[in-house]
Amino acid sequence: MELTREEEAILRGEDGEGYQRAMEILVALGKIQGAQELIPVRSAQVSGVSPMTIGEAGMEFLRDWASTGVRARIYATLNPAGVDLKSWKELGYPEAFARMQGKILDAYRAMGIVPSCTCTPYLVGNLPGPGESVAWAESSSVIYANSVLNAKTNRESGVSALASALLGRTPYSGLHLDQNREPTSAVEVTAPMRDLADYAALGYAIGREQSGVPLFRGLHPGMEELKALGAALAVGPISMFRLGDGRTKLETLEFGRAEMEEAYAGLNTTDEEPELVCVGCPHASPREMRDLAGIKTKRRVWAFTARQNKVRIGGRNLKVVCDTCMVVSPLKDLGIEVVGVNSAKAAYYCAHLSKLRVRFDTLGNLLR
Ligand code: F3S
Repeated sequence: MELTREEEAILRGEDGEGYQRAMEILVALGKIQGAQELIPVRSAQVSGVSPMTIGEAGMEFLRDWASTGVRARIYATLNPAGVDLKSWKELGYPEAFARMQGKILDAYRAMGIVPSCTCTPYLVGNLPGPGESVAWAESSSVIYANSVLNAKTNRESGVSALASALLGRTPYSGLHLDQNREPTSAVEVTAPMRDLADYAALGYAIGREQSGVPLFRGLHPGMEELKALGAALAVGPISMFRLGDGRTKLETLEFGRAEMEEAYAGLNTTDEEPELVCVGCPHASPREMRDLAGIKTKRRVWAFTARQNKVRIGGRNLKVVCDTCMVVSPLKDLGIEVVGVNSAKAAYYCAHLSKLRVRFDTLGNLLR
């Protein structure tokens, strides 16, 4: 890989051990990916925040890196944490877990990472323009950046996104290259798309079967539907999709009513009544929050969103929970066993990571 003089110097340790470590990571990654060089990136989105996902070892790794005195050289935001940072006590999160969360966030803060604690950085000011390269971790924001914002990013790990935050660089490979951003297959959607959950089910089904860059035909989604579709696609290996209506010579798969029903069935692991309905995966947008304000239900509902998008809604049943989500917070420790979700990503990870029993359905049905 060709490095600039400045990059060579960082690699030799002339900026200190912490930046050297970051450069070693990017160079190793670049070599694996066959990159010829590093390119500048506009921003980073760093994942690996909740004690549930990184554990004690991850926390010590971050504290050690922070102790070298490194600071982010570009704007860098952070993925959801494991608790609501202001209301964890009232919501019943265990104290030891919340304390550990505090230490992890202190390490990120010391490195100059903005503790935005959301998976929708594009809704809180980390908004790259078309054609701009960024280094984002968090698969749902990666696919949104590539497909909706037309920015360019590979699906970074927490560690490589942090290295990019510290150096403002990333390997020039994968989806930073225009030739890798062309559609590779097409999906003709003939199923009626009536609800956000339908977009999630569609994305989940296609993400299980395909890789590359699928082109969806027959879809006319809004921002929230794009967010749901992308997050579900990215449960599998897909990090970019396209929309189109014209003719295509690409191999085309049909997604009709039968496929939709199959996707819903595959995402449900129980037919029990949910103890807690969780919405906001990815984090709810301001419009979703406004829509929630109007609901009336007897069910217990938690709406997850970025703190910046918090609105005053709800009462006894409906709580707005910030900084965290249903997947990276220890719901089992709060006594929850059965959740209801309208997000395919949440359904998948609540079942497989958190070992909860999951009802996946439209929000309307979940609230009934
Ligand atoms: Fe975001 Fe958590 Fe879903 S990080 S995409 S709300 S699993």
